Amino acid sequence: MTSCILAIESTCDETAAAVIQDDLTVLSSVVASQDELHARYSGVVPEIAARAHLERIHPVIEQALSRANKSGQELDAVAVATQPGLAGSLLVGLVAAKTLAWYWNKPLIAIDHLHAHVYACRIAARREIFPCLGYVVSGGHTHLFHCRDAVTFELIGGTIDDAAGEAFDKVASMLGLGYPGGARLARLAEAGDPRAHAFPRPLLDDPQLAFSFSGLKTAVRYTIAGPGKPLETAPPLSEKQRADIAASFQAAAIDCLVGKALQASRREGLDRICVGGGVAANVLFRETLTAACAAQGVELLLAPPAWCTDNAVMGAMAFERLKRGLVESLDLDIVPGLVRG
Ligand code: KG4
Ligand code: ZN
Repeated sequence: MTSCILAIESTCDETAAAVIQDDLTVLSSVVASQDELHARYSGVVPEIAARAHLERIHPVIEQALSRANKSGQELDAVAVATQPGLAGSLLVGLVAAKTLAWYWNKPLIAIDHLHAHVYACRIAARREIFPCLGYVVSGGHTHLFHCRDAVTFELIGGTIDDAAGEAFDKVASMLGLGYPGGARLARLAEAGDPRAHAFPRPLLDDPQLAFSFSGLKTAVRYTIAGPGKPLETAPPLSEKQRADIAASFQAAAIDCLVGKALQASRREGLDRICVGGGVAANVLFRETLTAACAAQGVELLLAPPAWCTDNAVMGAMAFERLKRGLVESLDLDIVPGLVRG
């Protein structure tokens, strides 16, 4: 008998629900994006995100159940991402999950959103991926984990300032590409010369597993506006100049992302890297990391692009917890910050 779960995701600005079987067959996946609500602010506004989750969570869950042709009674558990994320956003998902788990009398499972980004690789691969180096490259996080098994993730490195996706979004915004601009920046970069500007590769040669993107962001800003000058006073850029800046920034960011992944795999003695998170949808990043891993004899698993950005399918990780008896009580709380160690 296959069992199946409802997974709920509301950590940031996507409201998502999915129904997945224990053989990791995805019966349904619904994602309601809030991009258009946050675009005018060039970033996620927590209050707006929480309210939008409130409006969307019920229809999103209903749609996931009806597309999967499952009733609540047919489920074996309800899973929800409880960390890390925006407090208001997390609370909406948690309250929905608790209510349903209580009403249907099903086990409640807590999911770590970052671990779930790595687990997207497991779902796509349909085979064991642990132990591995888990690598999350998203709008909110750039973090490395030593994953001993499906429920034991040790945080071994990460960004000391901005996340990679945040840098992509900020540079995209400087180039007038709107929010979130990571994918648009990648498209603009296709017409540019990655060697046009020698942007820094912060901490790339540092022995620690740390990333820093804020200096790179500032270097781009100085290139556009001049040191210390406001962007509003910058001279207009030609299409070619914009493309060159986009391509040079992307090359620098990807050099850092790829270099650190291999450094981490060597240091930890892990010859398998599993990558997830929104920036892992970037084609050049995928190609560069694929080539670098092949050259070093490291196995690479990349989450499929559709499961790189936030979704609830990756909540299938709940099966790993369910089978180990890691079930929560109804006083489960959220943990907005990143848990270290
Ligand atoms: O994983 P995600 O949906 O959200 C977080 O959990 O943070 O990632 C969203 C991030 C945004 O910063 C977005 O600009 C970036 O992923 N992104 C990309 C691409 N597609 C999405 N960045 C670079 N290239 C892309 N193709
Ligand atoms: Zn995410």
